Amino acid sequence: MRIPLIAGNWKLFKTLDEALDLVNQLKVLVKDIKKVEVVVAPVFTAIATVSKAVKGTPIQVSAQDCYWEEEGAFTGEVSPKLLKDAGCTHVIIGHSERRQYFAETNDTVNKKTKAALAAGLTVLLCVGETLSERESGSTFEVIESQVRGGLSGISSDDLKPIVIAYEPVWAIGTGKTATEQQAQEVHAFIRKLLSEMYSKKIASSTRILYGGSVKPDNIKGLMAQVDIDGALVGGASLKADSFAGIVGFNN
Ligand code: PGA
Repeated sequence: MRIPLIAGNWKLFKTLDEALDLVNQLKVLVKDIKKVEVVVAPVFTAIATVSKAVKGTPIQVSAQDCYWEEEGAFTGEVSPKLLKDAGCTHVIIGHSERRQYFAETNDTVNKKTKAALAAGLTVLLCVGETLSERESGSTFEVIESQVRGGLSGISSDDLKPIVIAYEPVWAIGTGKTATEQQAQEVHAFIRKLLSEMYSKKIASSTRILYGGSVKPDNIKGLMAQVDIDGALVGGASLKADSFAGIVGFNN
């Protein structure tokens, strides 16, 4: 009942020409893939161009962040409304790089999430512990506070277009994937938490993605876990063949 979702986070990479080239190759490679939702997240400046290029294909477009106000004197910010206008259907919120380098907190994540949901975007809400948090045994505590904080005040009706992405910080861009068991353990924990916060029904219909050094050769094992419903892919989404290899995990 949970359709797998594979999202490529292009981070701060790709000029317009490079973004177009990548998505045009992807269109061909993923055209026969069924029952998997495919999302790409280019930089802000490439969103409109990529959105036009994927029109009429199953590939959907996400932003990597947004602001919570709709408009106003907020120099440098981009609102969910403008993301929709540029062709986005999704937005990544609370990525660990934003928490680490741009002072993102559970509170700002929550404001952004509410604004994005109100604008009709699907939110990919990222949570994940650092290496020192894992080593000190506080993984579940950190994840719980990020999930509760990010979803604070969001009703079960509004929760529908939400996807949670569990991305252990120590696994991002390091080549060090969490083991399938480590990932499954946290995914199961998040699902249980959602069932406490909302209901069993909501928990069992919410998709939880894994992120952190996902590659074509480890996706199958991750997707075999009962609570892993897809992946948020960084480095391996920058090349069409490796991303298509991940999207086609079932083939
Ligand atoms: P990675 O990044 O696949 O390069 O580890 C994942 C992410 O940051 O979403």
